[in-house]
Amino acid sequence: MNTWLRKLLKILGILVGVLAVIVVILIIFVQLTWDRQVSRAVPQMSAPTDAQVVARGEYLYKYSLNCWDCHGSQGSHSPDEPQAGGREFDLTGIGLPGGFGFVYASNITPDPETGIGAWSDGELMRALREGLDPEGNLLFPIMEAEWWQGLSDEDTLALVAYLRSLPPVRNKVPENRYTFAAKALMALGIVKSQPAITEPVTAPPKGVTAEYGKYLVYHASTCVGCHTPRNFSTGQFDLTRPFAGGLAPVPDKRFSTTGSNLTPDPATGIGNWTEEQFMTAMRIGVRPNGTVLLPFMPWPSYYRWDEDDLRAIWLYLSSLEPIVHEIPATTLTGAAATGTGIERGEGLYDVYCVICHGERGSGGSFTTVALKDVAKNLDDARLSGFISKGLPGSAMPGFGETLADEQIADLVALIRSWQ
Ligand code: HEC
Ligand code: HEC
Ligand code: HEC
Repeated sequence: MNTWLRKLLKILGILVGVLAVIVVILIIFVQLTWDRQVSRAVPQMSAPTDAQVVARGEYLYKYSLNCWDCHGSQGSHSPDEPQAGGREFDLTGIGLPGGFGFVYASNITPDPETGIGAWSDGELMRALREGLDPEGNLLFPIMEAEWWQGLSDEDTLALVAYLRSLPPVRNKVPENRYTFAAKALMALGIVKSQPAITEPVTAPPKGVTAEYGKYLVYHASTCVGCHTPRNFSTGQFDLTRPFAGGLAPVPDKRFSTTGSNLTPDPATGIGNWTEEQFMTAMRIGVRPNGTVLLPFMPWPSYYRWDEDDLRAIWLYLSSLEPIVHEIPATTLTGAAATGTGIERGEGLYDVYCVICHGERGSGGSFTTVALKDVAKNLDDARLSGFISKGLPGSAMPGFGETLADEQIADLVALIRSWQ
């Protein structure tokens, strides 16, 4: 072999060796440090117990911050179900190759062993706003501590007061299972807890003002997280374009959707909407063109909001800089798209109806009427008429502009099959 080839091979060998050492060091570094605990003071605050504070906490929990959507039991469709956790978040399809793994929503009822009964009020506040458990372990930021940093002391204490008022339920939730990629992001501090809060946090005075609306959309509800562009590999938000709409479709088996552009751009945002049109969309999920928003956008929760809170949000969104950002159209996937007959009906029911009518139409937080009983007294034309036109004055929107006649017929067939 001539000498230059030998030299080249030698250099290559050294490079491969160095690379292998770096990889081994990285693996060891990640394994040793991904779950290091953060040591920092716990806030010394205690939650009031009076009924008014608990009621404020309930409003935030059920209708504004939608905590129940994750902390109810697996497949929870009502904020009134036990908040004993266990819902599995399959994050294997997000971001890096292999994704992040599996994360389980905690039992946040006051059971001392399997829930949060043994946590202090300060530890609960820190969990929500800084993303740490009592030992200083990172809570996976599927919960948006990043935004709740700005939730006022008063509102955070109200949430704690509400959690304390829940009936304790014994339910041991599985441990999270992270992929190496997730551990690496934690070890490198890309996925991390939030800074310590050392100063009192206050909210602007409650009222129909853009300032209070801003507090609501960023901190006391979860609009910002779904409606702002985000890098799904690192979880970082693009705060140069707030409310310009999500960047990538949300992973879900039932549909492909992306948070809309809420800035006042007339073409790609909601610049052409009137305040009343916005109120209708937020309350009963109906857009100006008559189509119904996916209830994945939590409008069924917003139905019970104070009118003033919604109007404050409108004022704030209207004050934003218009940003041109076209959002991909929402499409249905799975059985709702490709099934036929009752199977497609089930897919559609899962997307649009289950949140209010419960499993197999047995009832939910909006209505206790069982759909199969309703169907007994109505012929097909009246039943599909209800689905198509909705019930004005109630939370039930009309789906006539959203679903084709055949899709509504599949829903009717499904409801009849429950007899
Ligand atoms: C998007 C889903 C989601 C929402 C919404 C959500 N949580 Fe969580 N929460 C989780 C997950 C998942 C965990 C577990 C994190 C972990 O184990 O690292 C958790 C953990 C917690 C914990 C820590 C308990 C423990 O034992 O680890 C508390 C307290 C909590 N959540 C309260 C709330 C409250 C109050 C709200 C509403 C303001 C809320 N959560 C909203 C998903 C959510
Ligand atoms: C869980 C994620 C999520 C949250 C939280 C959320 N949205 Fe949405 N929003 C969406 C998605 C996704 C769509 C598109 C739905 C569709 O295509 O049917 C949407 C649509 C909308 C629309 C309709 C826009 C249009 O052009 O059709 C408005 C208005 C809206 N959201 C306002 C809000 C406000 C205000 C908040 C907070 C109070 C909020 N959203 C919270 C995900 C969310
Ligand atoms: C935001 C909540 C909500 C959603 C989403 C929703 N409904 Fe309803 N629906 C209601 C309410 C509230 C009523 C009134 C029930 C009552 O009279 O108590 C109702 C009534 C009905 C009725 C008539 C029942 C009667 O009392 O005469 C039918 C049929 C029905 N819904 C079917 C559906 C179907 C199918 C879907 C999905 C395509 C759907 N609903 C989506 C809330 C909802």
